[in-house]
Amino acid sequence: MMVNKYIEDINLPDFGYDLSNKKEILDLFLQEEYGYLPPLPNIFKWDATEENKVYLRGSATYKKIIMTVGLNGRECSFPVISVIPNTNQKVPFFVFANFRDAVPDRYYPTEEIIDRGYGVLSFCYQDVTKDNDDFTDGLAGVVYPNGRQEPTDGGKISLWAWVMCRILDYAQDQEELDITKATAIGHSRLGKTALLAGAVDDRFYCTISNDSGCSGAAITRGKRGETIKDIYTNFPYWFCENYGKYMNNEDKLPFEQNMFLSLIAPRLLYVASAQEDIWADPQAEYASCVMASSAYKAMGIDGLVGKDTFPQADEHFHKGNIGYHIRKGTHYLSRYDWNMFMDFLDKK
Ligand code: GCU
Repeated sequence: MMVNKYIEDINLPDFGYDLSNKKEILDLFLQEEYGYLPPLPNIFKWDATEENKVYLRGSATYKKIIMTVGLNGRECSFPVISVIPNTNQKVPFFVFANFRDAVPDRYYPTEEIIDRGYGVLSFCYQDVTKDNDDFTDGLAGVVYPNGRQEPTDGGKISLWAWVMCRILDYAQDQEELDITKATAIGHSRLGKTALLAGAVDDRFYCTISNDSGCSGAAITRGKRGETIKDIYTNFPYWFCENYGKYMNNEDKLPFEQNMFLSLIAPRLLYVASAQEDIWADPQAEYASCVMASSAYKAMGIDGLVGKDTFPQADEHFHKGNIGYHIRKGTHYLSRYDWNMFMDFLDKK
């Protein structure tokens, strides 16, 4: 199927925004979908509690850092694991929101990444605040001592994204890291989280969404698989309360997700899909990259340099500032995906 025909069929309204006014567009997404992120913390400290300079046969240094953030006179702490190649040069690195705290992990092939010269600062999202509707635990309890009050108060995705930005604050002080080469990365719900971190914080040189689907990289209108009704019924606490208004009411959304991706322009963006991940909908993810490319074009930069028909597994496009691939198989963050991301970054 032709991508242009697909985009025509979505029949997007003319929202009438000035797309170069990023502040206005970002505000829309924060007010109507994710909710506002917390302000900067007034307490921010970290403490390396474990260090191994001969990690992975001596090729890397492993550190377990306990990060403490405070606001409203309360504070919480969570672990961040730093694995950095042992070299005299500053290294590019990933800020990786993961589902589990294990290092390595099935979504995190640590040794392969180190061998390609990249560092990783990872955390387990549930160590920050649990993936449920309890807003009293961890960072949620610190930010919302009286629970969420406003329909624009940030959901859990905003809290996890905020932590990705704080990890970047930490990275700024680490001389082994090349702060100009920081990439936000996450899979699925954490791919949505990485996109939000990249959208709000332009210190991220690159932002990677792996299989983020609904309310992430995918276009919402006309989407197959998961809808706003599905996601907001199952996971209302990921979003702000306002987002609930759009259940079975997508046409009333005052934006589309391609505009969310456009907030990352002209910086690097990478969207990865999996062929059998219909719930996320690879076509809606690809169309979104095509549509977001116009924001890059307006800045005189190539966004996605792709093709006119929907790609098939294992095609990839790495030429422009929006990278894309679709791999065989199901919803997963695999070695194949990581290697594609690093191939793209190596070339930039
Ligand atoms: C569910 C949810 C998706 C989400 C996914 C995940 O399937 O419906 O929106 O991306 O979980 O995080 O694995």
